[in-house]
Amino acid sequence: MSYSEKLKELIAREQKADAGGGVERLAKQRLAGKLTARQRLELLLDPGSFVELDKFVVHRCLDFEMQNQKFLGDGVVTGYGTVSGRMVCVFSQDFSVFGGSLSGAHASKICKIMDMALKVGAPMIGLNDSGGARIQEGVESLGGYAEIFWRNTQASGVIPQISVILGPCAGGAVYSPAITDFIFMVENSSYMFVTGPDVIKTVTHEDVTKEALGGADTHSEKSGVCHFVDSSELGCLQNVRKLVGFLPSNNLDDPPMRGRLGEDDPADRLCNEISKILPDHSSKPYDMRKIIENVMDHGEYFEVHSHYAQNIVVGFARLGGGTVGVIGNQPAYLAGCLDIAASLKAARFVRFCDSFLIPLVTFVDVPGFLPGTAQEYGGIIKHGAKLLYAYAEATVPKIALITRKAYGGAYDVMSSKHIRSDFNFAYPGAEIAVMGPEGAINILYRKEIAQAEKSGKLNEERARLVEHYRNTFANPYKAAELGYIDQIIRPEETRRVLINSLKSLVGKREQGPSRKHGNIPL
Ligand code: HXC
Repeated sequence: MSYSEKLKELIAREQKADAGGGVERLAKQRLAGKLTARQRLELLLDPGSFVELDKFVVHRCLDFEMQNQKFLGDGVVTGYGTVSGRMVCVFSQDFSVFGGSLSGAHASKICKIMDMALKVGAPMIGLNDSGGARIQEGVESLGGYAEIFWRNTQASGVIPQISVILGPCAGGAVYSPAITDFIFMVENSSYMFVTGPDVIKTVTHEDVTKEALGGADTHSEKSGVCHFVDSSELGCLQNVRKLVGFLPSNNLDDPPMRGRLGEDDPADRLCNEISKILPDHSSKPYDMRKIIENVMDHGEYFEVHSHYAQNIVVGFARLGGGTVGVIGNQPAYLAGCLDIAASLKAARFVRFCDSFLIPLVTFVDVPGFLPGTAQEYGGIIKHGAKLLYAYAEATVPKIALITRKAYGGAYDVMSSKHIRSDFNFAYPGAEIAVMGPEGAINILYRKEIAQAEKSGKLNEERARLVEHYRNTFANPYKAAELGYIDQIIRPEETRRVLINSLKSLVGKREQGPSRKHGNIPL
């Protein structure tokens, strides 16, 4: 064979591999409103940056006459490329080949690129679109999944891992995305569940559609499995790029800086909006996002889990050019109470940031934990403890600002000085106490209140006691006297104070006691 003939053969094989499961099946994919595996990679990565590996891998199955049905690449495109110039490793499952199902060979390709990501310290991004275990391969496929799960676990906290669900992701297959750091889904085309509608109907007699059971809305609002949801694949992939832009490539790298410190949004810019956002009355709601946006560089704040547990907000932003992880109680939703979902959401976010050296900035306005049997029976004790534990074990720079309320155990949990926050600030109107005035006076002045009720002066007496309590306890000065609050700051100087604090913490090095690992209350 001459060289040109050999070249022709290579080109022919490449074209065959690029054709996936064939014209018809690719057309079916497009008809379903979905992009193909390769189109998705083109949108995710910088143009021309993708380097494909294992393009000619085929499955090894001999059962079910599978030896006669081989597709180059075996249903998954793997390799590496760049996102805004920074390297990432990727796989993209091709539904046109055996429904993107996972064979031994398909799994080996994914494992190989995961190994490379870990070796070179690059984020791993998986685009999932798969009917699950390749039925014809039986246990070899299950073994393949477990190999991926093991690598997901090894890579956790070493490289950022991102899962994008762009079709089915069912059965045990969901557990790879579940271990990764962030899950993206697309409305009306991606779904995740451990058992599908048919099995559920048989076992529990419930009627539920695929979308209602495991669609993007369900997982972004109800279960909290999904962190980011978008109405289109394009929007979804653009958001993945945006997220990657905030993250370091691995746990030894610093998060990427944009510009020099505060260069393009001055570090001493006054935050004049905050005083207007904070209501006069302490029980009035306001949107904590607005305060966060007023403080962060260019007003940009990339929210994670925005539809789930909305009583707490978490997300990434830049402060003085560097990435910070922002956590804020949200008074506009459930008064900003901590409950099970909020604790889980924030705890996982805090641990992610701590793994990847991303400083934590916490905006506190919390009236306490949400009362009720649903919360107690659901285990708010152990779930709330997760957030406490996550903050306490985090060694990255930790800064907290009490914008209004910090009551009870929630005061301790929300990055308090006592669990080793580095800087704790409060606005002059902050209320820091064991509980709110209304509840406190009922306990402290039981007799006086009963007396007032008898003499028909209940309202006046309650108002007087509340006022007295508020003046005595519901302010930041008791905490400041004890050194639990480092500085009482004016709202307009928030940005300057936070950026200065971050700068002063650049050299922070902290190590806990030597141990195998702690035992977070799971
Ligand atoms: C082999 C599969 C397959 C699978 C789909 N296909 N799933 N081949 N193994 N798991 C093939 C189909 O035979 C078909 O081939 C092509 O992919 C497209 O599938 P369709 O059914 O035509 O597509 P659609 O109507 O869109 O339905 C998609 C689907 C359905 C909902 C995913 O295919 C389905 O239910 N598949 C089985 C899902 C499943 O039960 N998987 C195992 C889950 S358990 P042709 O040749 O016709 O194009 C599991 C355990 C993992 O995954 C455990 C890890 C620990």
